[in-house]
Amino acid sequence: MDNAFIATNFDWDHRNPTGWQRGLNRVFRKLRLPVRLTPAPADMANIEARMNLFHLLEQTAAYRVPGDVVDLGCNAGDSTIVMRTVIDRMAPEKQVHAFDSFEGLPELTANDRGDGVYAKGYMAAGLDLFTRKFEALGLRMPQVHKGWFEETVPRDLPDRISFALIDGDLYESTRHVLPHVYDRMAPGAIGMLAVYYDENILPRSGIQGGYRSPGVKRACDEFFADKPEQVSVLYANEYSNGYFRKQ
Ligand SMILES: C[S@@+](CC[C@H](N)C(=O)[O-])C[C@H]1O[C@@H](n2cnc3c(N)ncnc32)[C@H](O)[C@@H]1O
Repeated sequence: MDNAFIATNFDWDHRNPTGWQRGLNRVFRKLRLPVRLTPAPADMANIEARMNLFHLLEQTAAYRVPGDVVDLGCNAGDSTIVMRTVIDRMAPEKQVHAFDSFEGLPELTANDRGDGVYAKGYMAAGLDLFTRKFEALGLRMPQVHKGWFEETVPRDLPDRISFALIDGDLYESTRHVLPHVYDRMAPGAIGMLAVYYDENILPRSGIQGGYRSPGVKRACDEFFADKPEQVSVLYANEYSNGYFRKQ
């Protein structure tokens, strides 16, 4: 299927300056000022991360990996919208499940506080916004599981999973969901790790804060230490993604 909907559904064309920005950029150039204006980037992901999501999910649908798809940390729904669109076109028999507190991040434990990146309530987006986005695009709502992962996972996970987006940002959130998701993944199923940054594979000087979320890699390193699968890194410009394929 085509993936043009990623560019047309969302305002992610954020690297192209608008008219007035192009005008000001010309002035900056004439004045020899090393400054260029562009629209603000979308803050939960960028176009590269959405493309990674599209291709990983599309692959599991094309190869008919059995099981439903889950979005763990759906926030305002942009990632779930990509998932819903792909599944509706390629594997409509699958259920799409979206999990989030819809109150942002939980209280941080010492395991995440030390990173100095996040705080409780960070990124809060309500279920009403999520619902409005699905309505505006005329998409069927997924099965929504509102609450802390510690309550909803594994309770509300489907028995069989073909694709999971794990996007909880924190060490604790990632550590909690990974074993439950992994156990339910069919052979060939894919788990995408939204902010997995490995400086040994792709060192980037400008990647910091929420773009690298160091707790995610720590939780994955611990989990995969005794597993046959390994996490691979996918380029995502100012973000960095990871994924693994269940054996
Ligand atoms: C980066 S956002 C997700 C972005 C979304 N997947 C997207 O691509 O648009 C991370 C989300 O994880 C949720 N989250 C993190 N830890 C959680 C937990 N323990 N329980 C419930 N939600 C959690 C937060 O509420 C937040 O909305």
